[in-house]
Amino acid sequence: MDKKELLYEGKAKKIWKTEDKELLISEFKDSLTAFNGEKKSSEEGKGALNNKISTILFEYLESKGVPTHFIKMQDDNHMLHKRADVILIEVIVRNIATGSLSRNLAIEDGKVLPFTLVEFDYKNDELGDPKLNDQHCLILELVKSEDELDYIRYMARKINNFLSEFYAKANLKLVDFKLEFGRDSNGNIILIDELSPDNFRLWDADTNEKMDKDRFRQGLGGLVEAYEEVLKRIKG
Ligand SMILES: Nc1ncnc2c1ncn2[C@@H]1O[C@H](COP(=O)(O)OP(=O)(O)OP(=O)(O)O)[C@@H](O)[C@H]1O
Ligand SMILES: [Mg+2]
Repeated sequence: MDKKELLYEGKAKKIWKTEDKELLISEFKDSLTAFNGEKKSSEEGKGALNNKISTILFEYLESKGVPTHFIKMQDDNHMLHKRADVILIEVIVRNIATGSLSRNLAIEDGKVLPFTLVEFDYKNDELGDPKLNDQHCLILELVKSEDELDYIRYMARKINNFLSEFYAKANLKLVDFKLEFGRDSNGNIILIDELSPDNFRLWDADTNEKMDKDRFRQGLGGLVEAYEEVLKRIKG
């Protein structure tokens, strides 16, 4: 399948149309942004690593029966997947408090939460991705019903269980992550976008060393090396 017109260029990926209107190609870029685009950089090899890590995780989730947009990895930087109507909710799943949760609510960084927290942010860069509750989601018509929100929360928890177990085998703690969902051509809600350390906080299970985009956010360096290590560990 070849790339046709560019549909969208985002901060981390270019999305290309193909000859099949139901299929798209994501091109994973080396560029990197944080703090809603305020901090920018590029790290050679980052795009390919995110594509490879995402591929392994999508294949794993598919094998567990989670419906996703994934079809196949085409080459180092390209993934073929289904087209979806994006649901403009960033679904945040947290097992351990850190980042904005710790800052906003003064919860000690690194505290294991008493249960998995699922939060919704509005996927809207102009507004700075504000927090949403269920009523906001319905007023903004981001979903059709409360049942859809419940389904998204249920899937997010299931995905968290599968991925936490998967990462534990790689001696990594799944701290928190962001998911996106969309509607496929049949109207079914499926998991879309990417599953990479740009969107997942992963800590080494023994040392709590950060193996994700926080290396860039916090200026720790060694981002590509950390992503390479994640890929090596999950390949087994
Ligand atoms: N299967 C899909 N069908 C249609 N659009 C998709 C699909 N999967 C992902 N997308 C969208 O493609 C875009 C991917 O680009 P990218 O990740 O670079 O976005 P972005 O500008 O970084 O936005 P954000 O920071 O919110 O992720 C996102 O807007 C995402 O919602
Ligand atoms: Mg993105």
